[in-house]
Amino acid sequence: MKKKRAIKLVEEKLPKKRFEHSMRVAETAVKMADLFNGDAEKVELAGILHDYAKYDDLALMYQLVTKYELDRELLAYNSEILHGPVAAALMKYEHGIEDVEVLQAIFNHTTGRKQMTLTEKIIFVADYIEPGRNQPGVDEMRTMIFDEKKLDKAIYDISKRTVKFLLENDKCIYPRTIECLNYYNLEK
Ligand SMILES: [Fe+2]
Ligand SMILES: [Fe+2]
Repeated sequence: MKKKRAIKLVEEKLPKKRFEHSMRVAETAVKMADLFNGDAEKVELAGILHDYAKYDDLALMYQLVTKYELDRELLAYNSEILHGPVAAALMKYEHGIEDVEVLQAIFNHTTGRKQMTLTEKIIFVADYIEPGRNQPGVDEMRTMIFDEKKLDKAIYDISKRTVKFLLENDKCIYPRTIECLNYYNLEK
């Protein structure tokens, strides 16, 4: 899929704020691809499309999990976990994206996983540090990436914050998030 078509798809579907976030994730991801020798075209496309299913109806998302034979464990989770896998399935089966790296980066952008490709890592982190984000500690994370170039350490720290947040709010933790936390704890 060409960049122009991806932008049009997302612009037509998402609220303005989320569309702008998506574009900033894509821009941040391209900068990171330059820095870490990633594939700028792939990360840009994945960045534009990663939140495509963010506001899809939950009942529809559950239907798509079954239709596209995604992990049935996803059915125990809400849109925060589902929107990545569902967006990847829609891009693969309904919009003809064949690039596995782009699809994986969209699929895993919220949870991460162990042994991510560079494209996945970049989208996972870019989503967290794009310039519109202002959560506590995000500046340290930007320094970790753009000055210290510690990509795996950033992935570990983001996973750690996510797990802490979920525990403190009595939310379930999707197994891939734990898998990501453990793997990058040893890689960092
Ligand atoms: Fe997302
Ligand atoms: Fe996002």
